[in-house]
Amino acid sequence: MCGIVAYTGNKQAYPFLINGLKRLEYRGYDSAGVALLSENQIRLYKKQGKVADLERFCATEDLSAHTGIAHTRWATHGEPNDENAHPHLSEDGSLALIHNGIVENYLSLKNELLKRGYVFKSHTDTEVLIHLIQDIRKTEQVDLVEAVQMALSVVVGTYALAILSSEYSKQIIAAKKGSPLLIGLGKNEFFVGSDGAPIVEYTQKVVYLNDEEVAVLHPDKELQITNIRNEKQRPSIQKLELKLEQIEKGGFEHFMLKEIFEQPKAIVDSMRGRINTQKDVVSLGGIIEYENKMLNAKRFIIAACGTSWHAGLVGEHIFESLIRVPVEVEYASEFRYRNPIINEDDVLIAISQSGETADTLAAIELAKRKGATVIGICNVVGSSIARSTHAGSYTHAGPEIGVASTKAFTAQVTVLTLMALSLARKKGTISLSYYYQLVNGLGAIPEKIEAILKKNDEIKEIARYFVDKQNVIYLGRGVNFPVALEGALKLKEISYIHAEGYPAAEMKHGPIALIDEAMPVVILATEQETYEKIVSNIQEVKSRRGKIISIVSEGDETVKNMSDFCIEIPKTEELLSPLVASVPLQLLAYHVALLRGCDVDKPRNLAKSVSVE
Ligand code: M6R
Repeated sequence: MCGIVAYTGNKQAYPFLINGLKRLEYRGYDSAGVALLSENQIRLYKKQGKVADLERFCATEDLSAHTGIAHTRWATHGEPNDENAHPHLSEDGSLALIHNGIVENYLSLKNELLKRGYVFKSHTDTEVLIHLIQDIRKTEQVDLVEAVQMALSVVVGTYALAILSSEYSKQIIAAKKGSPLLIGLGKNEFFVGSDGAPIVEYTQKVVYLNDEEVAVLHPDKELQITNIRNEKQRPSIQKLELKLEQIEKGGFEHFMLKEIFEQPKAIVDSMRGRINTQKDVVSLGGIIEYENKMLNAKRFIIAACGTSWHAGLVGEHIFESLIRVPVEVEYASEFRYRNPIINEDDVLIAISQSGETADTLAAIELAKRKGATVIGICNVVGSSIARSTHAGSYTHAGPEIGVASTKAFTAQVTVLTLMALSLARKKGTISLSYYYQLVNGLGAIPEKIEAILKKNDEIKEIARYFVDKQNVIYLGRGVNFPVALEGALKLKEISYIHAEGYPAAEMKHGPIALIDEAMPVVILATEQETYEKIVSNIQEVKSRRGKIISIVSEGDETVKNMSDFCIEIPKTEELLSPLVASVPLQLLAYHVALLRGCDVDKPRNLAKSVSVE
């Protein structure tokens, strides 16, 4: 979603700001803007479209300044256009503001400000905030920091923001609640980013702002942090856990392809140090303190969104099968609003790649209020979800930049499997032989994914068949039903082809009406308990002249002979099969989207981290 960068120091601000905006493009946005402060004057440039459009728009301007703020906006309030793009100015032009998040009470605040004669140029909630700050400053006769603190005290909602003032040369005010913001510390310079991507090139010393903190950045002064009640806070300086090469394409055409190919490593990294050399102990350091709570849990609730929710569905199979404790998998967005029954002996597992998904965060807070133990599975170190859960395990997949989640999914399933194995062993709900079979099976997964990645060209050829299709059905059963959902999500979000995932047996309860010679049906038919039933499901599709694209275990001639296209993948234990079966579907979606000329890494309307409701 929206992205923030800001700079104040002795260097030129604009090159950092524009480069920073490019680094944040992966988050998804529809307009961009920059405000520069020099000689007590604010100059503002903003444009609908890509950062490159903004760059062209500014090309002939004088862009010299040592202080500036810049933003990529993902529209919530008001359509994507130049006026609604950030930064927004106060009425007298003396203040400029960029903002991530949502001011939920913006309408009542706006009505109040309209009555007081303020004129609005945009339809955004952000503009309300800058007029409010200006109004408080004038009427209360307070300095700017106090005005910001007072304004933020009346705001309901979330914010990460940065403010320039023509009165305070070289100064930036930054604040945060519910939306991440970090400050990079250089020598007589400060960098601000909504994540580490714009900053990592310049410094690894960072301060993560906490909720309701307000920071004042001035290159000639120490970093000052207060909260919105004006109480002094002590900055905690941390090392930014990010490397520049991790956020670059490294020779791949797209981040998505790079991330698909990184899966063998991501899985190895997610397992690293968690299985001892004798393989008889699986242990996740981050949850040790809460292990007893997990061992005694009467029920697990998994809350997540999108791909992470699909990983949760796979987790449900693995947990129930190995630990024999009931698991419920919830869309975080629904869970938070339906007054769910949560008991103190429940354990909620929140899964999130970004660690910033607003609905998942709200589900966590709800579960905590009701006394449940909350465990996180996150990819982004230090993210809001990682910090708000009682304990958790990182996935260690490395930064995921492509909007379509790939390596995060397989890493999440890996961590869920490790969790289940560790608990099952301690509870005695798994036989020793099956335990070793799964541990060894997990260890062999990276190599099996390598073998699938070698089929990239073969899958690219199959993708041609999909280019002009309007609809695709994905079918799977058991632990591979979530893989069908995930395959369909990948295809629809990046190729814009309508795709639906179904449990294969559900087809005859409705979707079979859609099958004709124009309908491709992607079916997961690897070796599993219900294999024979899947073969029958394939017959049902074929009888109606549907086209079969199957994913089968190596050597399966039966389904291969029934299929129009077939991708063979290495055999593995049924419970682990999502880790391999999801990979050809990722590659298929990637190639279809590419052939259709879609922007694979930044699909329309989507954001990488959905930090608003
Ligand atoms: O960062 P999270 O894992 O919490 O994000 C959840 C979803 O927004 C995310 O998985 C989304 O569905 C992806 N675009 C899927 O590829």
